[in-house]
This record gives sequence, C-alpha cells and structure tokens, in this order.
Amino acid sequence: MKEKRSIILKEDELPDTWYNVIPDLPEPLPPPMDPPEGYSRVNDLPNLLVGECLKQEMTDQRWVPIPEGIQELYLAAGRPRPLYRAKNLEEKLGTPAKLFYKSEFYSPTGSHKVNTALAQAYYAKEQGFERLTTETGAGQWGNALAYAASLTGLECTVFWVRAVYRWKAERLKFMQIFGADVFASPSTQTEIGKKLYAEDPNHNGSLGIAISEGLQDAKNDPKAVYCLGSVLNHVMLHQSVIGLETKKQMEIAGEYPDVVISCLGGGSNFGGIALPWMHDVLTKKEDIKFIAAQSEVAPNLQGEYKYDFADHAEMTPMLKMYTLGHQVTMVPIKGDGLRYHGSSPILSLLRHLGFIDAIAYPADEIHVFERAREFVLAEGFLPAPESAYSVACAIDEAIKCKETNEKKTILFNVSGHGFLDMDGYAEKLGLIQPPERA
Ligand SMILES: Cc1ncc(COP(=O)(O)O)c(C=O)c1O
Repeated sequence: MKEKRSIILKEDELPDTWYNVIPDLPEPLPPPMDPPEGYSRVNDLPNLLVGECLKQEMTDQRWVPIPEGIQELYLAAGRPRPLYRAKNLEEKLGTPAKLFYKSEFYSPTGSHKVNTALAQAYYAKEQGFERLTTETGAGQWGNALAYAASLTGLECTVFWVRAVYRWKAERLKFMQIFGADVFASPSTQTEIGKKLYAEDPNHNGSLGIAISEGLQDAKNDPKAVYCLGSVLNHVMLHQSVIGLETKKQMEIAGEYPDVVISCLGGGSNFGGIALPWMHDVLTKKEDIKFIAAQSEVAPNLQGEYKYDFADHAEMTPMLKMYTLGHQVTMVPIKGDGLRYHGSSPILSLLRHLGFIDAIAYPADEIHVFERAREFVLAEGFLPAPESAYSVACAIDEAIKCKETNEKKTILFNVSGHGFLDMDGYAEKLGLIQPPERA
C-alpha cells in the first residue's frame, strides 16, 4: 500500500480535553509577581482577564475538559485539521528524513489563533461581558478574536501594531467584515497610546505597547474584558489541541518524531504543537529535540531569564520568562508576529532546564522567505510569514539529515497561511509588481 500523504481525523476524534503541562514540569512554575513598588498587579488580574481563563492559568489539573460548547465551535472552525507528510518536499530535497506538517492554516481566519480565541470568547460571553479588547501583531490574532467575538455575539476592539497595520490592508478589511473596531497602535484611544503617538505619529508600535492599550481600554469599560493571544498558561492550554490531534495522527501513521519544530513569538503555536509531546519526554523519558524558530530581531529565548512585565506600560504582573526587556525597540519585520520581547513562562522554564533549542534567523528574512518558496513549490500551501520560520527550520534540519544520512522524523507546525501577506512575499522575494491597471 502507498504511504499516506494526509492523515485525517473524524469529527468524533476531536480531543475532548486540553493538556496542561504544569503538573509534569520538573520544577514548580515561578508564579506571577508584583513589582517592588506600586499597586498590586497580581490582585488586579481578575479585573483584567476572563475569570475562567484566570482559573485555568493557575490550575494543576493535567487534563482539562473542553466544554461541549467549545468543542462545537472547534468543529465549526474545521477541526480536527489534517496532518501532511511532505513527500514532494522530501523528494525535492533528496533527504532521507521524513517530514510531517500540521495544517493550522486551514482555519477560518488563517491561523492557529482561533483555538484560544474561540475558548476565550466563549468564557467571556458566559461571564456576561459584551466587548473583547486585544492587541495584534501579524493581524492573525486580532482577526481570530474578531471572528470568535462575532460568533459568540460580542463586540471586539483591536489595537494593531502600526508597522503591520500599514501594509496589511486586506487583513484590516477581513477584521472589519467581522465587525471589529481596529486602531493602529500607538493610537489616540488610550492614555499610553496618546503619549507615544504625540512623541512620534509614525511610531512603529510593538506588541508590548498594543497590549497596554488593550488593557487600558478594557479597564475603562466594565462591560469589556481583555484577551491575550499568546504567552499565558491558559493560551498554551487551549492550543494543546494542536499537539493532541497530531499525536493521534502520528500514531495512525505509525511514526514518532525525533524533532518537533515551530516558530515562536510569545509561544502559543510552539506550545500548542510541542507540549503534548513534551508530556512524553517529561513522564516517559522519550527523546525528542524541540526547536523554536525565531528572528534575530526578537530572539527572546536568547534573552535573560528573569521577572519582567508582559506589556510596555507595566500594567501586567511580572512574569518569570526569557525577555529582551519590556520597553526594548525592535525593527519591524514581515514575520512581525514574532517581534515580542518576552516568551511564555512555561516554555521559558523548559528552555531554562535545557528542553528547548532555539535558532534566530537573520533580520533581512531572505533565507526564511526563500525556504517558504521551496515549500510552496513542493507542497502548494503558502505559509504565513511567521510560519515561514517553522518551514525554514524544518528544511534546514532535513538538509542536515541529508548530509549525515540520518533518517530522522521531523514534525513541524504551519501555524497559518499567507494569503493576506503577499506584499511581504513580494518584497522579500523581489517579485515584479504587475503594471498598474488603467
Ligand atoms: C501565523 C502565526 N504564527 C505564529 C505567530 C507567533 O505567535 P505565537 O508564538 O504566539 O504562536 C503569529 C503571531 O502573530 C502568527 O500570526
């Protein structure tokens, strides 16, 4: 029989629990802390986050049931998603490695971000909120939350890092179709936004600033709540659905990964694919190499492991994480969803203990986009610029296998599609612009 190209789960094979790695960690996870001065950010958390998400943030329950209502939303969003064997790519590369990729790009708005957006919107609705506020970098998270809000009958306000807002016109329209109010950040809607905007109306913005804006906006409106698309423990929990599906699929394929790869900004898609496999490493002593693909512009996993704020205006508690500093300036890139100063506390601890490797690709992004082109030519799917980092890393690892003649099984996540990011591809690959239409 021919080897399988796609491994597809039926609807009734959708996981009915999420996986929480916290009880399996070799050391207790350092909790959020207050800064030495000022009001208690920790005590302020119930005013900032959805109650159920905050409970999940602290839980040590290993398997957390996915409410039926959220399972329904996952099914409506097209879960479970296929796992593909990248046969064409293997052949083109001439590698003895086997390459498998998870297709989070098959998502209504284009990325894995819907997995936590749907959960957060569902819980916010249950708690009686009427509006969700958030930040977005690539635009994928803002779009996912706008979609989830519209499905659950909520309003949505998005603060979008200005450097990206400028070039993703189609993504803006998509968010607006779902009824979202979208502001380039720094904006003139919030105190912190106004201050930074007055200093520089062309400010590129950052995820740290956009988070502060989303938080301030929600704090000023009792009917609104802030939702974060990455970093936090409950986001890792919701995203575990990616890896849990993938484990079933690899089992069907009769394969087990030697290497698991994904891009990492704040850590949500990396955590999503990696942590269910990390369970095997931590509890069954399996040997898997985990690689996080990053940009030299924001190599947060190579920063310092210390307590730092998650936002620019110091409104969040301090989290123990790898960080480049919460007010650092980083130049914009096309994979701008990776331009965040910090990374998930869970993944940071695992990195600190030696379980996660990281690679940072050059700021010009040429290598990454060239690798994405190789992937498109072989497999046909167009990765989001951030996902192109996963693809680049997987191809680089497959080429190393060719050089050493190692038959490794490499699993990687393609966290989103790049259909609304063509200007990024055009710039990085030097594509010729079509003549202007008359
Ligand atoms: C498609 C896609 N992948 C990955 C990322 C990086 O974020 P995270 O590390 O939380 O997955 C983003 C961020 O916007 C994204 O849009």
